[in-house]
Amino acid sequence: MRTRLDHLVTTALQQGSAVPAFTCYDFTTALAVVGAAEESGRGAILLVAPKTAATANGLRLIAALRTLADAAAVPVAVQLDHASDLKVMADAVAAGADSVLADGSSLPYEDNIALVKSARALLGPDVVLEAELGGLAGDEDRAFGADQSGADVAGLTDSAQVEDFVSRTGAELLAVAVGNVHGKYKGEPRLRWDVLQDIAARVHIPLVLHGASGIPAGELVKAAAMNVGKVNFNTELRTGVLATLQDQLPAHRADGENLQGLLARWNHSAKEFATATLATLAR
Ligand code: 13P
Repeated sequence: MRTRLDHLVTTALQQGSAVPAFTCYDFTTALAVVGAAEESGRGAILLVAPKTAATANGLRLIAALRTLADAAAVPVAVQLDHASDLKVMADAVAAGADSVLADGSSLPYEDNIALVKSARALLGPDVVLEAELGGLAGDEDRAFGADQSGADVAGLTDSAQVEDFVSRTGAELLAVAVGNVHGKYKGEPRLRWDVLQDIAARVHIPLVLHGASGIPAGELVKAAAMNVGKVNFNTELRTGVLATLQDQLPAHRADGENLQGLLARWNHSAKEFATATLATLAR
């Protein structure tokens, strides 16, 4: 059943759990995520990248994901991830997304607030808004190995700003930069749990941890206790699917150009990752 993203996350937090969110560039991955969520009996979030939503085919994918969410046996939300273009936000919502990350994190502070407020004015009160404060290193769609040292200096969320930011933007969720990066970590992830704890003490809306690929499960289990109710994954899902396709391609070509069989392997790989992640974040 399609569910408001903030309700899904708040309910999970009340039970001591966080909800995983997975980037879906395609329907096969989305089917795997929803299948894993249904088998686990837990909710999940389908993320659509802004580059996907900026195309006509991407908007059709969003419509398909909404139908998938509607028919799911567990709560599922569809979110446009990392959008800074108001037209893309409006198009994605019209196509079926019910939540948007209005991402002004690369902008000056006041401009970031202005972007979230413009998104609210444009999209209305029923669309759940996530906002982001603090800059994450790395690329959202391609993984090259991002340095956390930049985040140590410039990108960390300034906990002194979060109350003002949340009250002025009216965002329902807050994405934070606490040493997390998009893509691959150079070396071991070094999350600043002290900063996260400080932020959690100051604002009471659910927090969001982006760039969760590569963060060990033993670390991720701590998230919900610090009010992190949504944890975003992309790279690890891609790594698994691409390795599976590379491994399986020759045999499936030899087996009569068996694309159907190859897609089943794709589904299996994504589903395994989603199942493991759902289990890690559940309490
Ligand atoms: P990773 O690719 O590092 O898992 O980050 C995903 C993400 O934060 C999507 O918003």
